[in-house]
Parts: sequence; structure tokens; C-alpha cells
Amino acid sequence: MNILVTGGAGFIGSHTLIELYKAGHTAVVVDNLSNSNPESLRRVEEIIGAGETPAVHIPFYEVDIRDREGLEGVFAEHKMDACIHFAGLKAVGESVEKPWEYYENNIGGTLTLVDVMRKHGCKNIIFSSSATIYGDPAEIPITEQCPKGQCTNPYGWTKSMLEQVLMDIQKADPEWNVVLLRYFNPVGAHPSGRIGENPNGIPNNLMPYITQVAVGKRKELGVFGNDYPTPDGTGVRDYIHVVDLAGAHVCALQAIARRCGIGIYNIGTGHGYSVLDMVKAFVRVNGVDVPYSIKPRRAGDIATCYCNPAKAKAELGWEARYGIDEMVRDSWNWQRQNPEGYPDLNQN
Ligand code: NAD
Ligand code: WQD
Repeated sequence: MNILVTGGAGFIGSHTLIELYKAGHTAVVVDNLSNSNPESLRRVEEIIGAGETPAVHIPFYEVDIRDREGLEGVFAEHKMDACIHFAGLKAVGESVEKPWEYYENNIGGTLTLVDVMRKHGCKNIIFSSSATIYGDPAEIPITEQCPKGQCTNPYGWTKSMLEQVLMDIQKADPEWNVVLLRYFNPVGAHPSGRIGENPNGIPNNLMPYITQVAVGKRKELGVFGNDYPTPDGTGVRDYIHVVDLAGAHVCALQAIARRCGIGIYNIGTGHGYSVLDMVKAFVRVNGVDVPYSIKPRRAGDIATCYCNPAKAKAELGWEARYGIDEMVRDSWNWQRQNPEGYPDLNQN
């Protein structure tokens, strides 16, 4: 299939491009580069095309998904079979400060994208949703039957609302196939160390913070709370290797080919690891020190969040292959080889 990948220059999008080409698909990337660097795409082409002649070229358009004419231009040039829709703003804390910008970008952008898609007869979409839509989950492990919860920030609400928007569109027009992938906590990087997570400024998420401490960019990790009702008191999450997560999108395309209508899947490993489990694994596997100190709880955090991924296995034939050791190894491999991230991106 030929796939429109919005946000393809970003962390998860760039890894997904590799899995798409490995599976025999082709892609067209649309990204406004608001949180990414085109160097990621150059490196993706390098990885996909290793040893191949002619070199692989992935068409890239620096277009904002809110720009209807820009999107129309892309669809005029390429026939698209489906869209994997990663483009969006994702910083939880920033979304609390700038709710309008988050609703306008994520919801406005998706509405424009979907409208242009249907006008061009492309009614297949895989949407990047998030475990955050479960709020403080009613059950652990979380199945897809678990009710959606109260989000603690506008970012989470954009995901929750967009799930509803896409389901309503499919209900009104059954020609649509909509797959909602609810990611748990993506970490890791491509094993080559050539592409990875490249946060702008101070990382919000645990793994990039750990790697930046390990590489000497930050003094110590703050562990947000050690008094949660968890085995060691620190928060427990379902970390998933980004290469596994990327592979889930390829499996989801098979559901689309089967005309699934609506498909909703948790994408995690089903294992919960605490903050200190992650730090200890990182130190053990990589042989580097990660100084940390215990800080107060972070507002909006929950104690425990991990999923039951059985539905994805049963219906998509997908399951995670990488464990915690590969996650910490590949995160470090990327950071170690690219201490400043991709070149030219202004980091501090
Ligand atoms: P990312 O920021 O690395 O990638 C998102 C990409 O979208 C970036 O390249 C950015 O430049 C682009 N973008 C943003 N707004 C755009 C717009 N209006 N038009 C065109 N391009 C735009 O983030 P990621 O970690 O790769 O996440 C991808 C998707 O997965 C996002 O939708 C995110 O919300 C979702 N998600 C991420 C996580 C996570 O922890 N990383 C967890 C759950 C869900
Ligand atoms: C993981 C654990 C923290 C940083 C977020 C979003 C969610 C999804 C994934 C997009 C928690 C602890 C963290 C630090 C710490 N993104 N921590 N020190 O909060 O589970 O999920 O990213 O959809 O929507 O909310 O991930 O990596 O921020 O935190 O102790 O410096 O690490 O308290 O227990 P989270 P995270």
C-alpha cells in the first residue's frame, strides 16, 4: 500500500517508515517540522536503502495538516491507500499552558486532514491514540473494555475527543476504516542508533531524561514520588520499544485491508516497570551511572498503568518482541551516538 504518514519526521513516525518499507509498503511524509528535523528522514532513507540501488527516496512535504491547500497538493500528486496519522503536539505540561494551541493543532488539523482524505477517496486511517485516554484507569491491567476516563490535561482530551470524532465519522460513512492505537509508554530507538527520540529542551518523559543524565547533559534524575502504592513506591508504566510500536502500525494495515470498520487496540507489552526498575536496568545493561534523587509527586501522575495487549495479538497478530534490556540498550545507543540529537536542532 502507499501510505500517507503525517508527522513522519518525528520519533514514532520515523521508526514506522522503516517497518513500512520492510513490509513492502511505500510512504509519503507530511510534517511541518514543528517538533522534528528532516535529518531523521535522511537517516531513515539511509537505513531502508542500505545496499540498494537506486537509493530509496521517500517523498516529503513540509506541510502543516491544518493547511488544506497544501494537503490537496499532496493528494493531487500521490494516490494514497491509507493514512497513518502521527502529526500532533504532545507535550502534556505545555498543553496545560496552551490549551487553545493544542485543540487547534491536534483537533483542527485532524478535521482538515480527514476532510481532504475523504474528498480524495482515501477513507482508511490509523490514529495515534494514547493510554492517557483511560485517565486513572478503572482496572489494571487495562483492556480496551475499560471505560475512557477523565484526562488530566488538554493534550489527553485532544486524543480522547479525536477518538470520538473518528468513530462518529466511520459510523456515518461505513466506507471508512478507523484503527485507534492506544500507545502506552514508547521508549528505545532503532538498533542502529541512527534515529531516536529528540526532545526539544528539558525532556518531560522518563527515558530521555535518564539518557541525558547518563550522557552528562543533566546532573541527576528527579524521581517523582516514592510513596505510590506500588512495589517500590515509584510509578509503574508499560514501556514499549518504539520498533515494536512501529510494527503495530504495519499489522494494523492488515486490519484495514480486511475492512475492519473500527478497531481499537492497546499497544503495550503488558508488563509494568517502576521508575527505579528502569533506572536500575539502564545502569545494569549499559554500565553507566544515573544519579537520582526523590522529588515530590508530579501533578496529574497516576500510580500504575499497564495494559492487557491480548486483543492486538488475537486480531492483529501483533505482540511486543523487545524487553526492558533492549529498550534501555537502544535508548542509550542513540543518545551516546547523538549526544546533541540531530544536527542543527536548537537544544538546551
Ligand atoms: P513527535 O513530536 O516526535 O512527532 C510528531 C510529529 O508531528 C513531529 O514531527 C511534528 O513536527 C509533527 N507535527 C505536529 N503538528 C503538526 C501539524 N500541524 N502539521 C504537520 N506536522 C505536525 O511525537 P511522537 O512521540 O513521534 O508521537 C507521534 C504521535 O503519537 C503523536 O500524535 C503523539 O501524540 C502520539 N503519542 C505519543 C506518545 C509518546 O509518548 N511519544 C504516546 C502516546 C501517543
Ligand atoms: C513515566 C514515569 C513519572 C520523568 C506521558 C504522557 C502520556 C504519554 C506518554 C503521549 C512516571 C516518572 C518521569 C522524570 C520521573 N504520551 N518520571 N522523573 O507520564 O506515563 O506518560 O508520556 O500520549 O500521555 O502523560 O510518562 O515518561 O513522563 O513518566 O520520575 O523526570 O516516570 O512520574 O511515573 P507518563 P513519563
